[in-house]
Amino acid sequence: MLIAQITDTHIFDPGVLAFGAVDTAARLAACVARINTLETMPDLVIATGDLVDSGSPAQYRNLREILAPLHPPLFVMPGNHDHRENLREAFGDMGFFPSNNFFLHYAIEDFPVRIVAADTVIEREPGGIMDAPRIRWLAKKLAEDRSRCTILAMHHPPFQTGIVHMDRMGCGGANELAAVIAENRQVERIICGHVHRAIQSRFANTVVLISPSTAFQVALDFDPEAPARWTDEPAAFMLHYWDENSGLSSHVVPIADPGPKRPFRMGG
Ligand SMILES: [Fe+2]
Ligand SMILES: [Fe+2]
Repeated sequence: MLIAQITDTHIFDPGVLAFGAVDTAARLAACVARINTLETMPDLVIATGDLVDSGSPAQYRNLREILAPLHPPLFVMPGNHDHRENLREAFGDMGFFPSNNFFLHYAIEDFPVRIVAADTVIEREPGGIMDAPRIRWLAKKLAEDRSRCTILAMHHPPFQTGIVHMDRMGCGGANELAAVIAENRQVERIICGHVHRAIQSRFANTVVLISPSTAFQVALDFDPEAPARWTDEPAAFMLHYWDENSGLSSHVVPIADPGPKRPFRMGG
């Protein structure tokens, strides 16, 4: 099974550039084209939040248009830049959002690897949380099937990255989440976005990782006084590959055209 993760696509109204400089729509369109031309087609694509920049219906319309050519089935979940009701409205027809729950969280059950998507958003706040109702939901969801390799997807990472201005808008409830994960050893990976960089850490008895953004990257600053800054580091997405024998491995894939595959030989 092959899972493509795209994150922090930050789509604006048509023609509007992030920071007046970054064409996030063009970068996402390039990502869609890159996924569609992979030699091994992913079984699905999951977009782990900050899908658009301010959550307006027009931005979601623009996002859907850019994502429409994707060959694999698409799943989306909210980040702090998203607007729950507008997101539900824009993607509700795809059938993965629960109709009977305020939170936009769900499980994808139709593949060998189970994916549980948790909604960490606090309305009108940049940080996220796994609070008591969401922890209860997650514990119940994970307990439903402990036999299958499971990926937990959540926009806000539950660990400190060292990039202090991003850590200030981290994920509350990390200890409670760790307790649930410790009881669910089938959770092979927690996949996140939000920080716009490739970062990994240990978390409870699993591995947690953050995917780079398809749009722009956050500057690598370990100075606690550093302000929020962005860079032109390569936009990228992730491929999570699983088979029964090798288990799960997670790959960062730059969106830029890699050129031809050349043999390992002199003059090649
Ligand atoms: Fe973001
Ligand atoms: Fe975010």
